[in-house]
Amino acid sequence: MPQPVRISPSILSADFARLGEEIRAVDEAGADWIHVDVMDGHFVPNITIGPAVVKALRPHTAKPFDVHLMISPVDSYLEAFAEAGADTITVHPEAGPHLHRTIQAIRALGKRAGVSLNPATPAKALDYVLEEVDLVLVMSVNPGFGGQKFIESQLRKIEAIRGRIDKLGKPIDLEVDGGIDQSNCRRVVDAGADALVAGTATFKGGPAAYAENIRALRG
Ligand code: DX5
Ligand code: ZN
Repeated sequence: MPQPVRISPSILSADFARLGEEIRAVDEAGADWIHVDVMDGHFVPNITIGPAVVKALRPHTAKPFDVHLMISPVDSYLEAFAEAGADTITVHPEAGPHLHRTIQAIRALGKRAGVSLNPATPAKALDYVLEEVDLVLVMSVNPGFGGQKFIESQLRKIEAIRGRIDKLGKPIDLEVDGGIDQSNCRRVVDAGADALVAGTATFKGGPAAYAENIRALRG
């Protein structure tokens, strides 16, 4: 069964010149996790932050760091992100051929392992690995940028994966990322999601608006 909805603000939409303050502000505003988007300009057409920044941000909150790695290759960087303070490390099967090995490596580092599926990747990509993961992240935009439009077809994928998780009977988080806002969050949760990433929808309006923005996403 789904767990109560967790909100994971994506700091991609925060003020990068004041990231520590921004993380403290969303923590106080009620964020459950902090979503950190790591991009390499190769697997996705954008470059963001690396382990040194994650490490610098770690003292600013006690909330779990939900680290979304959009990089290829990924295995050689897992240890650095684990040491920097990631709690969940999420990887893409589209980024490399050895997903099972990558999941094992994340768990060997003592971290929660997540698998993220691009919009065109079928739920079937979870075959043979679902029981090994702590989190599934459904991308509802093509990864690379904040502020894109939610892709409706992903609702069917969320429903399908919810069914598989419930059948397995394990407390695997089902998180959705991309274009989530106050107008569609209810439908995403009704489809079976129990964690929502929100960049634009969290950070719009500046710090005074964060608490209300996050509250509204809980539906
Ligand atoms: C996209 C990232 C998302 C993005 C979400 O590649 O993985 O986490 O920051 O931003 P919004 O909520 O603005 O779509
Ligand atoms: Zn993300």
